[in-house]
Amino acid sequence: MNRRDLIRNIAAGTATIFVVPSVITSCEKESEDPDNNSKPGGNGLTIDLTDPKYSNLGSAGGSKVVNDIIIFNTGDAIIALSSICTHQGCKVSYNHGNSNLPCPCHGSIFSTNGAVLQGPAQTALQKHKVSREGDILTIG
Ligand code: FES
Repeated sequence: MNRRDLIRNIAAGTATIFVVPSVITSCEKESEDPDNNSKPGGNGLTIDLTDPKYSNLGSAGGSKVVNDIIIFNTGDAIIALSSICTHQGCKVSYNHGNSNLPCPCHGSIFSTNGAVLQGPAQTALQKHKVSREGDILTIG
């Protein structure tokens, strides 16, 4: 290794030292949920069904995504599941006509209880507890 190679290697190493921590920091920020009240152990997510933003949840087929949780009304119950596909993280939607939640990216389909009906996803969607008092929903 000559002097020029040595200087080049030192410069490359210095750049790595400065670049890697900033990449790690940015990944941490992206995975943070700015509103953590929907996370397990938090205070839960409260939804007022009289609020026009959520009014469609009061009738069969209505759905809404809040804090990466998809909340939907099957006609028999209001259910809350993670809206993040367990395959590669796309957002699922509620298909009331088929009573399932398809993922638009690679074709996975989940049941209204979150179970995988069709892959490539292998893992069920996380289910959140839903309780209702009058027009107030609490999503755990
Ligand atoms: S991300 Fe949903 S099927 Fe691939």
